[in-house]
Amino acid sequence: MKSSQVVTLLAAALRVASDPCTIISASLSADANVYYPNSTEYTLAIEHWLVSSIQQPQCVVEPSSAQDIAVILKTVNATKTPFAVKGGGHSSNIGFSSTTGVHISLAQFNYTKLDVSAGTVAIGGGTNWISVYTTLDGTGFNVVGGRNPAVGVGGFTLGGGYSWKTNAHGLALDNLVQLSIVLPDGTAATASATSNPDLFFALKGGFNNFGVVTEFTFRAVPQDLVFGGHLTFDAAQLTAVNAAVVAFEQNNTDTRAAVVHGITGLPAGNGSFAAPVPGVQLFYDGPTLPEGMFSDFFAIPTLTTTWAGPITFLEWSGTDGSVSGLRGFFHAFSTLPHTTEFLQDVADEVSAFGTSLGSGNTSAVYLSVAIEPFISTALRNNNATSRSSAYPPVRSPLLLPSNIFFGYTDAAEDAIMYAAIVQFQAHIVAKAQARGLIYPESQGGSTYSNYALAGPDGAHVLDFYGPAHLAQLRSVRSKFDPDHVMSLTGGWKV
Ligand SMILES: Cc1cc2nc3c(=O)[nH]c(=O)nc-3n(C[C@H](O)[C@H](O)[C@H](O)COP(=O)(O)OP(=O)(O)OC[C@H]3O[C@@H](n4cnc5c(N)ncnc54)[C@H](O)[C@@H]3O)c2cc1C
Ligand SMILES: *[C@@H]1O[C@H](CO)[C@@H](O)[C@H](O)[C@H]1NC(C)=O
Ligand SMILES: *[C@@H]1O[C@H](CO)[C@@H](O)[C@H](O)[C@H]1NC(C)=O
Ligand SMILES: *[C@@H]1O[C@H](CO)[C@@H](O)[C@H](O)[C@H]1NC(C)=O
Ligand SMILES: *[C@@H]1O[C@H](CO)[C@@H](O)[C@H](O)[C@H]1NC(C)=O
Ligand SMILES: *[C@@H]1O[C@H](CO)[C@@H](O)[C@H](O)[C@H]1NC(C)=O
Ligand SMILES: *[C@@H]1O[C@H](CO)[C@@H](O)[C@H](O)[C@H]1NC(C)=O
Ligand SMILES: *[C@@H]1O[C@H](CO)[C@@H](O)[C@H](O)[C@H]1NC(C)=O
Repeated sequence: MKSSQVVTLLAAALRVASDPCTIISASLSADANVYYPNSTEYTLAIEHWLVSSIQQPQCVVEPSSAQDIAVILKTVNATKTPFAVKGGGHSSNIGFSSTTGVHISLAQFNYTKLDVSAGTVAIGGGTNWISVYTTLDGTGFNVVGGRNPAVGVGGFTLGGGYSWKTNAHGLALDNLVQLSIVLPDGTAATASATSNPDLFFALKGGFNNFGVVTEFTFRAVPQDLVFGGHLTFDAAQLTAVNAAVVAFEQNNTDTRAAVVHGITGLPAGNGSFAAPVPGVQLFYDGPTLPEGMFSDFFAIPTLTTTWAGPITFLEWSGTDGSVSGLRGFFHAFSTLPHTTEFLQDVADEVSAFGTSLGSGNTSAVYLSVAIEPFISTALRNNNATSRSSAYPPVRSPLLLPSNIFFGYTDAAEDAIMYAAIVQFQAHIVAKAQARGLIYPESQGGSTYSNYALAGPDGAHVLDFYGPAHLAQLRSVRSKFDPDHVMSLTGGWKV
């Protein structure tokens, strides 16, 4: 053998030895798996709700124990390999749960265990809400979880979690009793009010900055039959629907009732976008609908309605585990209680951007703003205070989160759509500001991380946590991740 061949062979051997996927697979437990590109398992594991959130990793690792996760974290740190932790794959930001390095799939951390005597539900870190609701169906218990059942328990809860039950029980994270986590150094630990309380505070809003969460333990809440439905209206009903939303926001005091309002621009079918259409989801968490509840909405003629009840919570949630298949971006803003004038401002912006992006010259198919009118006391349930969790920085006044979604199909338009949603959000914030609806960041005003746009013109961690909570997050990070292992994965980095 010529010496140049020896050198080539040695180099190849060294590459194999330092290849993180090879190193990891040599030390995993028997039930764990490693999948390589173009296998069915690989493709399924990297799937996301938005196709624009998918990246192609070197390999997918599917750990089956905390020890397996320790092996992965040790290896990515030693080899400085970028990695991803995917829960339910609903992040709208590329790189938050996707990577070109090692992709950790939590598919084997998929279970829901109700403990009636303890009044808790323990849920694996890779479970989706639909599995939770399916398992709890018929037990008389539930947890404060996702409205869209396909969303993951992981990202939803670690960011906040606005639920159908938020008016009565606060955010999902307010209902956490304990988290089990594999810390960046590979140690398995728990976080609760009594065990690592600083980490417990930080994980409630701090996502993947502190390790991989293997189990979420929630307090159980009683679940009876419910009422609910999705009502769509003709564009001409926009003013009436906006007025009904604001009236509900101002006058409803029943914490079992919840509304989500969407103002949506859609293609008209003739090459241009139609006028913004209003739609509402109405939910009542009980077997008897109080007299007059939602009557303002029912008085408006609908195009379609799925209103039904009494039905089970699982029937209400639906079984939709599908992905959107679109490219897209989310963005966020939060306001003080809405006014009809502001909701008209939002509709005007949807209209303007429908013209600008939907005149046959882009692949835009969906522009929407979600309006979420919670009750003013919603975030003070469970005795929660601003010291309870990293998010939100203040709980009074209540700030109402809004989600902006631009969906499109053509990858060549990623930059155009990114710039457009940045501009759209800025217009809406300026209008809200002009109407006195923006609570200043200096006083604890914040936006919601799980809806926010990342990237150079997007949101910043300060926007979610405020200066005091961000400082606390950073000190917890220094304590539990002094070597910045979790900086090798994407997401909102503190
Ligand atoms: C269709 C749709 C509907 C939505 N509805 C709501 C809603 O009603 N209310 C609301 O509050 N939000 C809602 N969201 C936003 C949602 O909460 C976020 O997208 C959330 O981050 C998704 O969590 P995931 O686990 O599915 O996503 P992923 O993309 O898998 O994860 C998001 C982030 O969390 C991290 N993460 C996930 N699991 C773990 C874990 N076990 N340990 C450590 N880190 C982890 C990931 O690394 C990633 O950075 C919705 C989103 C979509 C797309
Ligand atoms: C996966 O399949 C695609 C398309 O068939 C091919 O271009 C690519 O090289 C394959 N990747 C690997 C790593 O085999
Ligand atoms: C979790 O398990 C259920 C069946 O129990 C399955 O339907 C679901 O697809 C699994 N989810 C994940 C994320 O693997
Ligand atoms: C991470 O890797 C560095 C070497 O790059 C090492 O010094 C450090 O101890 C490792 N940290 C952990 C938590 O394994
Ligand atoms: C709220 O209720 C009061 C008293 O019934 C009514 O005067 C007021 O108009 C309602 N608010 C809205 C926005 O409808
Ligand atoms: C397309 O249809 C919408 C809704 O019917 C209508 O308002 C608009 O004028 C039409 N645009 C064109 C270019 O025909
Ligand atoms: C698309 O066309 C509309 C209407 O002519 C125009 O206002 C808009 O700037 C165009 N948008 C893009 C992204 O080219
Ligand atoms: C709230 O605090 C009260 C008084 O300390 C206590 O009795 C109650 O159990 C607490 N509620 C919750 C949900 O923690």
